[in-house]
Amino acid sequence: MPSDVAGPFTPDPSRRRFLAAAGALAAGALLPARLRPAAAADAPGVRAFTLTAAPARVPLLAGELDKAMAVWAYDGRVPGPEIRVRQGERVRITVTNGLREETTVHWHGVRVPNAQDGVPHLTQEPIAPGARFVYEFVCPDAGTFWYHPHQRSFEQVGRGLYGPLIVEEREPPAVDRDLTWVLDDWRLTPEAEIRDDFGHPHDISHEGRIGNVVTVNGRTPAPLHMRTGERVRLRLINAANARIFALVFHGHRPRIVALDGQPCPPHEPPGGRVVLGPAMRADLILDGTGRPGERYTVRDVAYRRQAYELTDVVYGPTPLRNEPPPAPVELPANPLAEPDLARAERHEIRFQGGMMGGSLHGLRMNGRPVNPMQMMHAGKAWAINGVVATGHRLDPVLTLARGRSYRLLLANDTAWHHPMHLHGHSFRVLARDGVPAPRREWQDTVLVAPRERTEIALVADNPGDWMFHCHILEHQAGGMMAVVRVA
Ligand code: C2O
Ligand code: CU
Repeated sequence: MPSDVAGPFTPDPSRRRFLAAAGALAAGALLPARLRPAAAADAPGVRAFTLTAAPARVPLLAGELDKAMAVWAYDGRVPGPEIRVRQGERVRITVTNGLREETTVHWHGVRVPNAQDGVPHLTQEPIAPGARFVYEFVCPDAGTFWYHPHQRSFEQVGRGLYGPLIVEEREPPAVDRDLTWVLDDWRLTPEAEIRDDFGHPHDISHEGRIGNVVTVNGRTPAPLHMRTGERVRLRLINAANARIFALVFHGHRPRIVALDGQPCPPHEPPGGRVVLGPAMRADLILDGTGRPGERYTVRDVAYRRQAYELTDVVYGPTPLRNEPPPAPVELPANPLAEPDLARAERHEIRFQGGMMGGSLHGLRMNGRPVNPMQMMHAGKAWAINGVVATGHRLDPVLTLARGRSYRLLLANDTAWHHPMHLHGHSFRVLARDGVPAPRREWQDTVLVAPRERTEIALVADNPGDWMFHCHILEHQAGGMMAVVRVA
């Protein structure tokens, strides 16, 4: 499992990377700005927001390299403003495209009606430069979600277009603070500009675009200040194109209370590591069990030979209370339909391609047989059930009957990790290589290890054509996309 993101997939250390050491560059951490509802535009029962995607300059790097760096951003910030609503609320978000290319916005993990899903050419026409699009939907589930473009996302997300979307429980659990960390990495030149080699063939056919600087909330991370006895809800969102995070909170015993926005039985992360593939989220209850005045490190150990210190947890001199509150931290369940496993219909979905992946033969692209050379020339390296995707408008790989239960075996025939994301639904993770998943977590993105067989189950209860794709955005661009139809 993700313990071994390293191995043959370990990034080549000779490649230029200068992971900014948190300590050396630390400065004040910026919390994501909260998006205020545009009160005037609120219709009864509708929360109205606006977002503008456009080039901007932001201070990304603290310390010496600090300067206004050119990015693409929502409302001029990275991450974009936090959209925070209550469960069951109807939201209306008017998106203006201030980029010089088409865009869309996808509400990752929110079970929206198909027409609001933000997939270009599949659920809507892309938003032209200068144009607007109004999204409107109800948020059925409380939890930690995020938004990002779905058009050329390997570059648009990679340049900074993403933001948190938080749906509060009707009765949220009692915590002292509710914090969001949007994690990302960037590939910067020595001049601290974004390296513009997006969609590089090597990234497409290997592990994706791994950056050399990691940020939390759009800034090289500053310490997290806590007080002894404090209880923090920490919402982690991995917005990176390709980087997997595996966070270890030294001196602490965080409990995971939700994954991908969906509550799970509170538990300590297996092996002490909170593993997040691209697009995945985890809600932690982080109790302030440290001693006043002490400092504890948070390390990212995802890539074995490239572990680094992400940040520190630093305790102030005065305890808040003697120890964290004993109250339970279990989150209320969301209204998800439970798959009927005994009667579920079974299907298999295979992932093929990439370097060291074995045979690329017998694949099809644009309805015709394709050979590895032709794939390479088209910038493609991956296939799902033998089909190399060249755009979002695809013939369905599966057609599911609305309301029925399904068990899908995701068979990874490649040498790489793939965070596989299904739109419009959450699914239970049943088993990995035949070993039952202890908590059968609900997820919308599941990290499938090299050669692993991961079984998931869902009720196909949201009608429409839904993307099913790898969230390593270079793999997605490289053909690792499919459409699952619910009819
Ligand atoms: Cu987060 Cu299809 O995307
Ligand atoms: Cu992938």
